[in-house]
Amino acid sequence: MKKIIIDCDPGHDDALALIMAVASPKLELLAVTTSAGNQTPDKTLNNAMRMLTLLKENKIPVAGGNQKPLMQDLIIADNVHGETGLDGAVLPTPNFSPVNIPAVQLIAEKLDESSEPVILVVTGPMTNIALFLQIYPHLATKIEKIVFMGGSSTTGNYTPSSEFNIAVDPESAKIVINSGIPLVMAGLNLTHQAQIYQEEIDNIRKIDNNVAQSVAQQLDFYGIYYGQDKWGFKGTPLHDPCTIAWLLHPEYFEGFDYHVDVEVSGELTRGETVVDLFDLLNLPKNVHVLTKIDRKKFIDLLIKLIAKF
Ligand code: BDR
Ligand code: CA
Repeated sequence: MKKIIIDCDPGHDDALALIMAVASPKLELLAVTTSAGNQTPDKTLNNAMRMLTLLKENKIPVAGGNQKPLMQDLIIADNVHGETGLDGAVLPTPNFSPVNIPAVQLIAEKLDESSEPVILVVTGPMTNIALFLQIYPHLATKIEKIVFMGGSSTTGNYTPSSEFNIAVDPESAKIVINSGIPLVMAGLNLTHQAQIYQEEIDNIRKIDNNVAQSVAQQLDFYGIYYGQDKWGFKGTPLHDPCTIAWLLHPEYFEGFDYHVDVEVSGELTRGETVVDLFDLLNLPKNVHVLTKIDRKKFIDLLIKLIAKF
């Protein structure tokens, strides 16, 4: 069983990552921490707790993270995820409280007490992880790897060159990506392949449990944004759950090691993950960049795990 901590900003696709992690017997979810991103930090924290309450998981400690990115004002994605950050579904009121310590401290405690290295799964801006590495550098060796949704080796989705999670806090992303910790990147070049089609959402709706009903309602809302003609998508890309799917079934994916860094000063390119696809810089290959996903197997896995509740 792999021990993981999820740092997320729920967010509809973050919520799916939580569902998969809780449902899989192959993962032990030690803690959930939340970042400011898709919505304000109070809302993303509340959403993580609402989701865990829906999943009947009130023993996993949840802690809220930093209120804003390291250097810039918070950008939110209410155009994608709505006023609550999880619009579209009625979710239960949390039946437990967050722990009374900040996210970085909860991560530190969980790493410190673990006898084996832990995998960090990051599905939002990297603020908490960058702060953690600065405050607790001696615990970095307890991190086996960081699997993150963010960046892109092709196009952006916030600006033409930046993906949202990196654009929210480029300085934090730069710290994490240059940390020397093994990194696995599920960027937009991958996650835009991970689309769920309408008939598959309808199949989820037919599953007789309240988690499936909530997911179908959430995807109905989330799909509105990605249904805009400008994207040219047949379905709705499920970014964040690609991280959990890779942990469970790396054979569904293809990926390569590249040197990656983050642009923090470009006038047009701030927040871009610069991926050295042709090894032009001859620098250490610090990131395993996922490039292909077997879409059908990924969706089948998602549906199988949703049906477990
Ligand atoms: C990322 O941004 C957020 O809107 C999603 O939750 C995902 O983590 C995609 O760019
Ligand atoms: Ca997210």
